[in-house]
Parts: sequence; C-alpha cells; structure tokens
Amino acid sequence: MKPSGLDGRQMVNASASAVCYGSAAKLARSWLRDHEKIAVAGWLGCVLDPATMPALTHETPLILPSLLAADWSNVGVEVAKADRAGAKWLHLDVMDGSFVDNISFGPQMIQTVRKCTDMYLDVHLMMHRADHYLERFLKAGADNITIHVEANYDSSVSETLKRIRTAGKHCGIALHPSTPFEAALPYVHDIDLLLVMTVVPGFGGQPFMEKETMPKLAAACEYREQHSLKYHLEVDGGIYVHTAPIAKQHGANLFVCGTSFFGPENTEAAMRQLEDAVV
Ligand code: DX5
Ligand code: ZN
Repeated sequence: MKPSGLDGRQMVNASASAVCYGSAAKLARSWLRDHEKIAVAGWLGCVLDPATMPALTHETPLILPSLLAADWSNVGVEVAKADRAGAKWLHLDVMDGSFVDNISFGPQMIQTVRKCTDMYLDVHLMMHRADHYLERFLKAGADNITIHVEANYDSSVSETLKRIRTAGKHCGIALHPSTPFEAALPYVHDIDLLLVMTVVPGFGGQPFMEKETMPKLAAACEYREQHSLKYHLEVDGGIYVHTAPIAKQHGANLFVCGTSFFGPENTEAAMRQLEDAVV
C-alpha cells in the first residue's frame, strides 16, 4: 500500500483480499444493527463497508458535490444526480447559526441522505459544541466528520477527534481562511483529512480566496511529505474548473464543489469537466 493512502485502518481495503472482504462486509452489514457495527468497527480498528473506506491515495483527485448547493425540495433526486455523475463522496455542510452566520441542516438531513445513497458521506461541521452533538452525527451515517479548530468544545478538539476514530469513522480538521496551518499541528497525527477552507465558511457561491489560502495549503502539503503523514488535503469554497487546478497544484486532492456541480443543468457534464480539471 502506498504510504500516502488512507491510514492503517484502511489497510484492509488496499489488500488483495478486497473482493472477499467486500462480500464479508456485505454480510456483516446485513447482519449487524448500527450500534453493533460501530462497536465491531471500533474493535477491529476499521469500518465494515468498503464503500465507506475508499482505496484513496493523495494522488487520487476526487470531486465532492456539496449538498448545500442542491435543490432541497428534492433531496433524493439531487443525491441521485451526484450518484449518477459518478461521485464517490458527498459533502454535507452543517451550520449552526453561531459559529457561522448561517443555519443549514443537522443530523436528520444526514440520515435522510444516508437512506438515499451508499456514497461516502463527508460531514463538515461548522458549529460550536460538535462534541455535544457527535453521537447524533455518527448515528445518522456520517463516514467522515470534520470539525473546526476555531470552534468551542465542551471537551476539546483532541477528545472529539478521538471519539470519532473510536467509532470507526474518519476524522478531519478544518481551518478558516484566516487560521494559520500551525493551528492544525497538534492534530496532524490523528486526522484523515485537513480541510483548508478557500472561502469564509457559511455560504456557497463565494469567490475562491487564492492569495489567502494557497500558501497555507502548500505548507500543509509540504509538512505532510516531510513528516510522512497521511492526511488528505481538501479544499472547500469557490471550486470551479478554473480554480480547482490551482488548488491541485498546491496539494489538494479532495475538491468540494457546490455551485459548480449542482448549478449547471447537466450535472454529469459538470462532473466530467471538474474531473478533467484536476487530472
Ligand atoms: C461553505 C461550505 C461549502 C459550500 C461550497 O461554507 O463549506 O461546502 O458548499 O460552495 P461553493 O462550491 O458554491 O463555493
Ligand atoms: Zn463544507
């Protein structure tokens, strides 16, 4: 397995036994109830469903449609559009009206989406007290949960990350455009992804903040290589065919696309163009 792949918990997925594992996982999925899956996953140090454990390396660019830009009057249809376009991960933005100046949705929406798709659900918590609400997001079906270093916690960022990992899920840290990379340093050994926000979090459709964020992304990439770390680099906000390549050049491999994916009538064509931009 490449050292740059997802961490030790994902070793199983990269092994030659992936097919057998997939069958076993399907069986396990049908036999176990949710809380049992979480318990077993924690015990095994992995997750049970290959769909939630993609064999992904830092060299694998992925386009993540962001539900924030979808038509919420028809969530099932919108999620199906992302599925049909070939998206592997779906990005879900939770906003609490306090940490950011907007309110979006909570665990119930994650649960609704979970029922519509097997896509990997990448949940971005733009909220205070994520630790207080954590179990609800885990139970709702999140595969990765990213929390902000700038937010308030009843416990701490470290404790919250630990709880996500113990539940057998992936975890990430997000940095506001004004937060330096150094703020992530205490956590870089414990995360699956680092989200470098490329707009001020809170709203879709904002312009890409190249000057303010690309040096930080490059620093995060350099630090990862120098220290043989494993986190993926995700960018979120203002990602279009003309900005995604810039983020890629600075080290990103996960590209969150709200307006650029759900905006156009033909989302399959939009996906192909975005994928071509980051090849
Ligand atoms: C912004 C959100 C983004 C948002 C991006 O706070 O975190 O995920 O959906 O939207 P676009 O792609 O429209 O900038
Ligand atoms: Zn987001």
